[in-house]
Amino acid sequence: MKARVVVVGSFNVDHVWTVASLPRPGETLSGHYHTGPGGKGFNQATAAARAGARTTFVCALGDDLGGQLARALAVADDIALHDLASAAPTGTAGIYVDHDGRNSIVIGPGANAELSAEFVLAQRNEIEGAGVVLAQLESPSDAVQAAFSIAREAGVRTVLNPAPADALASAALLALADVITPNETEFCAQLQQHVGERVDAATVAMQSDDALHALCRRLLPHGTVVVTLGAAGCFVSHADANLHRDARAHYRVAAAQVQPQDTTGAGDAFNGAFAASWARHPDAAFAEHLHYASRYAGLSTERAGAAASMPHDAEVRARFD
Ligand code: RIB
Ligand code: NA
Repeated sequence: MKARVVVVGSFNVDHVWTVASLPRPGETLSGHYHTGPGGKGFNQATAAARAGARTTFVCALGDDLGGQLARALAVADDIALHDLASAAPTGTAGIYVDHDGRNSIVIGPGANAELSAEFVLAQRNEIEGAGVVLAQLESPSDAVQAAFSIAREAGVRTVLNPAPADALASAALLALADVITPNETEFCAQLQQHVGERVDAATVAMQSDDALHALCRRLLPHGTVVVTLGAAGCFVSHADANLHRDARAHYRVAAAQVQPQDTTGAGDAFNGAFAASWARHPDAAFAEHLHYASRYAGLSTERAGAAASMPHDAEVRARFD
């Protein structure tokens, strides 16, 4: 039986324009348009499923074409969908991608904002049977907290991807996370909120490993922090390295060598693949999961789209092994 990942999070219909440069105030540009499935939650669930984990996705959908799209795609990827039926429209995102693969995103939460703690609590059996529970901050904090509370009681591992940066996690939610996976901007936002430390992303990129480790320890004293650094890979800081079959309290994992076309959802690819690997191989060294997640995310950036760009496990192995 495949190990299970439960993802609690958002589904969005992404409206994507590829443009020469990201639009500035007052500017009108024309670009190539496409639409496709997204939302950090769904992207991560798709990644977990394609990386080989049996995957359940807990979300809220509207009674519209977006909701139908989510249902059809979940069937196609063999994702068990547990969706709260909302009267609000399915979530949307407007995304610009420039020719360097960078993006700007605006989200319309819609139904995602209606995901409730009550609905999540009703998924107790799924959560208790999981290897890893993975969530982000595009869904209400109390709904994510409900999932992590059940997981913590049942000894199920919890991973919080504290994205996007403008959505802050409560101290109670952070305390329920075994692992958090901020990018450098999200790391700074969480540091400012929880530790009162003002650092900017450029400074984080320049920090020595010892200084970064110290910041991570203040942010999540009892857990593991994985700061994702894009093409620079990621930095890992453990509270208790022995728990993860590693003698090192902190280390870096390099990013895969790729030619990015579209980095939309790269963080989601990383999180979903990491969760799948951790659930499938709970006794492997922690760094192995991050190594896999880095390759997985790298390959996703060579393809257009968010959920649609998630590779299958066999493709990742064929490309890098
Ligand atoms: O992380 C990328 C995702 O952010 C997009 O798919 C968009 O829907 C937003 O949620
Ligand atoms: Na992509």
